[in-house]
Amino acid sequence: MLLLLLACAPHPRVNDRDPHPVRFDGSLPVAGAVAADQPLASEAGAEVLRAGGNAVDAAIAAALASGVVQPSGSGLGGGGFAVVVPPQGEAMALDFREVAPAAASMERYAAGASSTLGGAAVAVPTQAIGLVDLHKRYGRASLTTIAAPAIRLAEEGFPTGTWLASSLLTSPEMSALFLGDNRQPRLAEALRAWATTEGEAMRTGWVAEDFVETVRRNGGILTMADLAAYKVEPRTPLRGTFAGHALLTMPPPSSGGIALLQMAGAVTPQTSLHCEVEAAKHAMADRASQGGDPSFTPVPVAALLAPARLAAVRADCGERTFPPEHYARPVAPPEDHGTLHISAMDAEGWAIALTTTINTSFGSKLISARSGIVLNNEMDDFATRLGEPNAFGLVQGAQNAVQPGKRPLSSMTPTVVLDGNGRAELVVGASGGPFIITGTWQVLRSMLVNGTPAQEAVAAPRWHHQWLPDAVLSETAFAGNDALRAAGHDVRIVGTPFSAVQAVRRTDAGFEAGSDPRKGGAPAFSKGP
Ligand code: GLY
Repeated sequence: MLLLLLACAPHPRVNDRDPHPVRFDGSLPVAGAVAADQPLASEAGAEVLRAGGNAVDAAIAAALASGVVQPSGSGLGGGGFAVVVPPQGEAMALDFREVAPAAASMERYAAGASSTLGGAAVAVPTQAIGLVDLHKRYGRASLTTIAAPAIRLAEEGFPTGTWLASSLLTSPEMSALFLGDNRQPRLAEALRAWATTEGEAMRTGWVAEDFVETVRRNGGILTMADLAAYKVEPRTPLRGTFAGHALLTMPPPSSGGIALLQMAGAVTPQTSLHCEVEAAKHAMADRASQGGDPSFTPVPVAALLAPARLAAVRADCGERTFPPEHYARPVAPPEDHGTLHISAMDAEGWAIALTTTINTSFGSKLISARSGIVLNNEMDDFATRLGEPNAFGLVQGAQNAVQPGKRPLSSMTPTVVLDGNGRAELVVGASGGPFIITGTWQVLRSMLVNGTPAQEAVAAPRWHHQWLPDAVLSETAFAGNDALRAAGHDVRIVGTPFSAVQAVRRTDAGFEAGSDPRKGGAPAFSKGP
């Protein structure tokens, strides 16, 4: 039916003065799907598709709206990654990860500065700059159109979602963000400034000044020069295969892309759960011992993904699991409620996996005074105290120590799967700190191997192993637990939700999508012309 509708629709007009190979005039609604953590955020994306925007515009709109309706988990005070597959031309990974301020040092944290709360926890907030860069490269709708749903939600308020409600229970002081009905007039003004100044307000303008003043008043070291100097990094996506599908995912400073491809390369559809967990242990040990910002530390990506290395991991799976020292030398981060993932696809062929983060729930718990934006605590994604676990229980190496201008190692794993013709067929990614990696993997595996529908795949119970602590965490008891225990794994039934995964898949009939019920999400669709 969709194909028929598209065939009958007037052919979109290509603007031939535009260097980008595929950019249509945007006068017609675009069929597509957006899966975000919160139904109102997915709907913001679908609204922009209906206004003629493409999937990239829709994902940006969903990210902005998420910062309004779920400020505990995302917003302009953070940073992020995106993997974009255009209908034609090269795929790209965009890195707009926060960086350490120029005056940052390990010594400050050794002397007692907090990497989780207050000004010292805040890394340079780069999401506003990154989303504009993403739009400049691939967007079609105006920034005003893209920001409109978020501004409306901030001005008019919205019903509290389940995830926001649970975040506010643990951080009641953060209700200072809201007037009655969750209205946020300061944030509405900042979003309007983001659109009208093309993000300059957050780089050199009044919102940047607001960030700096708020951070410095609270013991931090952020400067206007830090924001002005920030550079978004376009990167080449990592590429791997699983079960005959090509996977495009995020390179360093993400650790998630490497780990996902290590697991995908070491595992086949027939691999036992025990050997899958073993592959996760290797991948997470490599993450801890070798991951970092490639501008500061060599990350041996090719060696970690070499066929010989993947075969060695496969061969290493015996009857029983090994102690942690077997996987890597223990070096000196698991709760993440500050990240958000959006998957979006459209009928023109655009596909985007966009993950943004302010790190933990409500980040540094600082609200910038004039703009009402929650500031990240991404400094805690560095190994600020070597040998000690971070807020995620992750133990990390010196290669991820604090250095001025450096990006902290991330677990964010935005991923696009291509079919045999090189067309995007599935977009997937997650929030949840290190649980992102194992969550993205399990949903991807289930959808590609078993054909599980997206909503069912994201809702299914999950397991997790991050090498240290040396235990398989499981959301619920499941049949495989006994086999894992027999292979020597310490299986702990945790009973709390792990990651929140969002997935969109192209189908013969159009799109199907799943938003993780763990955060109360629901996808939204645009039917196109
Ligand atoms: N802040 C979570 C991550 O980047 O992994």
